[in-house]
Amino acid sequence: MNTTAEQDRADTPVFDARVERETAAIYERVKHIIPAIEWPVHAPYIASINALKAEKRAILLAHNYQTPEIFHGVADITGDSLALARAAAKTDTDVIVLCGVHFMAETAKILNPSKTVLIPDLEAGCSLASSITAEDVRLLRERYPGVPVVTYVNTYAAVKAESDVCCTSANAVQVVESLGADRVIFLPDEYLGRHVAARTKVEMILWKGHCEVHERFTAEDIRSYRQRFDGIFVLAHPECPPEVLAEADFVGSTSGMIKHVGEIRPKRVVMITECSMSDNVAVEYPDIEFVRPCNLCPHMKRITLPGVLHSLQSMQYTVELDPDVGARARRAVQRMLDLTSRSN
Ligand code: 13P
Ligand code: SF4
Repeated sequence: MNTTAEQDRADTPVFDARVERETAAIYERVKHIIPAIEWPVHAPYIASINALKAEKRAILLAHNYQTPEIFHGVADITGDSLALARAAAKTDTDVIVLCGVHFMAETAKILNPSKTVLIPDLEAGCSLASSITAEDVRLLRERYPGVPVVTYVNTYAAVKAESDVCCTSANAVQVVESLGADRVIFLPDEYLGRHVAARTKVEMILWKGHCEVHERFTAEDIRSYRQRFDGIFVLAHPECPPEVLAEADFVGSTSGMIKHVGEIRPKRVVMITECSMSDNVAVEYPDIEFVRPCNLCPHMKRITLPGVLHSLQSMQYTVELDPDVGARARRAVQRMLDLTSRSN
């Protein structure tokens, strides 16, 4: 009988002439960010995953923080949280594989209750999502009767289910203002909330949730980049603390940052956000110099090519939702999608 280790070795796809041929065009695109020595490790997984996707009628959605070999090698759709939610709402495939964190896979399931939604690692969490519970939202509603609740998509389904509407960092101001209220409860990201509050007259009641990746950046980090790298253009994600955002040239969602770099084409750029962003964007813009601060999201990095292959082979791990929670969460997510599709 085979041991587990022998079985694992037997299941590991190998780099041969066929795989090299099938993945040559992908490698051509990513060769200046993935060293040649690494390609024989990634390529067999990329070839196997792409073949299995077709066989299982699966679509693979990947967040901008996924590693370049996932982002450029196997993803069908890439983007920020809003783009992934929109893609999940539109897909007609049987299976959705979400390469991102658990709340993103839940959002895909919320919008597709009858489809199979897979996440390659169930432990891919998020410090913002775990900062608040449905019970917390119910207590806030009791404390502030009649005040609408806007919830960042970086939350679990049970929290979305207690909310009036969801938002992402790409549309938060628009969503808050759409309610026509003087005050809103904005959950759970305090720093995104403060960023929105500075751009609207609506009074914001905030929670103290933080992203463990973005809260590590400091204003001093940015000042030091400016001193060391002449003319550098600084883009920052609104999950960063306010004093960091105050030093940035542009603040926006992950896709907002990518779009802005494409529009203004600075010579040198630093993206104050998760590590893989710069790698992924650098593929598109080989002429731009990316200075790469590396704050890893440990949750995003739980998703790997071997994990994605295993997920498609075993159809694990399926995202399941209580139907009542799913239906109530869908109202809040769909309200956001309806609102932003009218204007974007
Ligand atoms: P975006 O919606 O900007 O992609 O952000 C998601 C996220 O998790 C950032 O940390
Ligand atoms: Fe959550 Fe921060 Fe990771 Fe985004 S980067 S998934 S907000 S922990």
